[in-house]
Amino acid sequence: MSEVKAAVASIKTRPEFEVFKAKISGSNGLLTAVKKTIGKLPQAEKPAAGKLINRAKQQVEEVFAEILARIEKSELAAKLGEPIDPTLPSPDDFAGMRHPLSQIREEMCGIFHRLGFTVAEGPELETEWFCFDALNTPANHPARDMQDTLFFPADTIAADAPKHADEAYLLRSHTSSVQIRAMLATKPPLRVVAPGRCFRRDTVDATHSANFHQIEGLWVDENVTLRDLKSVLDFFVREVFGHAAETRLRPSFFPFTEPSFEMDIRVPNLGALSNRWLEIMGCGLVDPKVFENVGIDPEKWSGLAFGIGIERIAMLVHGIDDIRHFYANDLRFLRQFA
Ligand code: PHE
Repeated sequence: MSEVKAAVASIKTRPEFEVFKAKISGSNGLLTAVKKTIGKLPQAEKPAAGKLINRAKQQVEEVFAEILARIEKSELAAKLGEPIDPTLPSPDDFAGMRHPLSQIREEMCGIFHRLGFTVAEGPELETEWFCFDALNTPANHPARDMQDTLFFPADTIAADAPKHADEAYLLRSHTSSVQIRAMLATKPPLRVVAPGRCFRRDTVDATHSANFHQIEGLWVDENVTLRDLKSVLDFFVREVFGHAAETRLRPSFFPFTEPSFEMDIRVPNLGALSNRWLEIMGCGLVDPKVFENVGIDPEKWSGLAFGIGIERIAMLVHGIDDIRHFYANDLRFLRQFA
């Protein structure tokens, strides 16, 4: 027996295994030869002999499977190479820094955190309802157009974002969908910021990317007013751009806020962009229809919302003139933010 064990243990490769297998169950193999002798046995002994052979065959197959599993394991190990220990210190003092967009995102969230906002999240793959309908964006709104939003094929299945039968999945075109998720998850009052990735069918140039990031803000409480909107955003702008920064709210339109604004800033020390009004975000007071869509009483509750592009802020803060730098993973660019 121990000889057999040693022989089995010595098989290390697939060719060796094939040779071994042929020796046992091939057309000239041992087991095959034994099987052939059954025919010559007296009739009465055939059933017992057959049973024995079947048991032997089963055992042999188990051994084959064992050998194969062992070979597969060592093939995989060979493919993966030496095991590495990711906890060892890196020889490169550059490793482990945060991407400039992550740095700015954290700084922004930190500023809102000081005003009592906590972080909320939602999926990047969304349903039409969360991204548009619940946000009071009608079916024929241009933002829903195939030109702007990236839709999934009708037969897409996604477990983390259940949808209605006649709805389409899409890649969220803004983080405003998280407003809806936050209001459905938490009864007011609530104060959340939702940083995350957004997608649009933009052609990529110096200031546009099909994939970019926003921070959504939502504050729902009794008696939230425009004054709260202005002071929250003024605080944010002065923390990021300094106390000399001026702000203004310019009337605009979003289906989910009423009134709606774009916020512009003017900063004295911003390189080539100094002392010019620059648009940095959309904002407004939550439209009562949005509250109705999520079962919040608009007579009792009011809210403010805003959506800020993270790339836009990072480009202004660092004087970066091309959005594509953020995604190119060029170390000469990234090292400047270590
Ligand atoms: N979702 C809007 C956009 O992506 C921004 C926005 C957010 C406007 C919240 C108003 C309130 O352009």
